[in-house]
Amino acid sequence: MRIIKMILLVLLIIVVGIQFIRPVRNESEQVLLTDITMTFNMPDSVLDALKISCYNCHSNNTIYPFYANFQPVAWMLNNHVKNGKDKLNFSDFGAYSRRRQLSKLKSMVSQIQDDKMPLPSYTLFHKDAALTEKNKLSIINWANKTTDSLSSNQ
Ligand code: HEC
Repeated sequence: MRIIKMILLVLLIIVVGIQFIRPVRNESEQVLLTDITMTFNMPDSVLDALKISCYNCHSNNTIYPFYANFQPVAWMLNNHVKNGKDKLNFSDFGAYSRRRQLSKLKSMVSQIQDDKMPLPSYTLFHKDAALTEKNKLSIINWANKTTDSLSSNQ
């Protein structure tokens, strides 16, 4: 029994200890000139859908849930945000080369069509982030239209 108590005590110390190691939060109120909304015309319906379903992982401003105050959850979240932003960051979209913008727009359409984004592991806990058919269509239409206008004025 004593050994079990010791192990539990050590575990407790670790769990409490790691609470003090906090990743820097991905938060910024600033809308950069490179933000996708500054670069392209975007109807409010598309912007709202992207904000609710994508911005937490693909922009410079994550809205954190309360449980993000606890480790190791915050580290996992941080990882998701880092990986998501590396691949696609709507706050930097305007600074991408035209080629990269075109490829990301195409990728957005296919990810949404295949129900790969938003990540299913995310919508499981964030039901509000799941895209409705209507939202999917408006994002896809917008992405296709933007692709056409980008390709036609080289
Ligand atoms: C919970 C975090 C999260 C959310 C929410 C999320 N994504 Fe992602 N997304 C990621 C991660 C992580 C990756 C990188 C996946 C990989 O490397 O396989 C990614 C990759 C992508 C890519 C691939 C980029 C490339 O390089 O081709 C696209 C496009 C994309 N996401 C679009 C979206 C869209 C559109 C939404 C909203 C409808 C969305 N994502 C919501 C985390 C997220």
